[in-house]
Amino acid sequence: MDQEHRPVIIAGNWKMYKTIKEGLVFVKELLPMIKDSNSEVYLAVPYTLIKPLADTVKRKIVIGAQNMNDATEGAFTGEVAAMMLKDVGARFVILGHSERRRLFGETNEFINRKVKRALSAGVQPILCIGETEQERDEGKTQEVLRTQLTECLASVRKTQFKRMILAYEPVWAIGTDRVATPQEAQEAHRFCRQVIRELAGDEAGDGMSILYGGSVKPENVHELVNEPDLDGVLVGGASLNVETFSKIVNFNQV
Ligand code: PGA
Repeated sequence: MDQEHRPVIIAGNWKMYKTIKEGLVFVKELLPMIKDSNSEVYLAVPYTLIKPLADTVKRKIVIGAQNMNDATEGAFTGEVAAMMLKDVGARFVILGHSERRRLFGETNEFINRKVKRALSAGVQPILCIGETEQERDEGKTQEVLRTQLTECLASVRKTQFKRMILAYEPVWAIGTDRVATPQEAQEAHRFCRQVIRELAGDEAGDGMSILYGGSVKPENVHELVNEPDLDGVLVGGASLNVETFSKIVNFNQV
């Protein structure tokens, strides 16, 4: 499957922003603004907003979470399980975001357990991987991506790969206004797709949607998504403002 046959996915990651009221105002304004878009629009929102937003947007925007625990249930104060996400209408979950890795000490092994739990609960994982600035400077980008992919996807069944999305997010580009060049992003995406082929076969590699994340803006989305192995974007800061986010969703309509 080539890029033409993979859907374009524009995903917003609201991180720890917005109340229910603010979230509802946002989606009610967004829906008419993006009615002509062919892209699939995802919004990863705080836990507290999942149900009100999922109930409001029905199936026009895919609402999901930004994290979950790896256990099915148990004495884990403050944690949320995959089935609970599904219960409130979350259809996907971001796993392994660099902020979770860096600020909350999440390891590839822990992320791997979450990926498998999300898949068995029927919640689509968006697995995030990416190198730090130092790793890139030391020429270790491919090594880091290969390790993250291999460890985060260990013992995931080959048939389950088509139910996942991958997001390449170089850590140095997140929230920094230093977007990767289309060539840098394409090179990393092509490499990730190659590793997926090695792990799960050509069909899995060719079918995998790989999003780019890190300082995506209306001004740079078009040239990024033009690259053959880029299937969409994961947008942090620029997803919080409805005008800006709608421009990103409608990037190919000008
Ligand atoms: P950014 O964040 O778009 O603000 O750089 C991306 C992300 O954290 O997914």
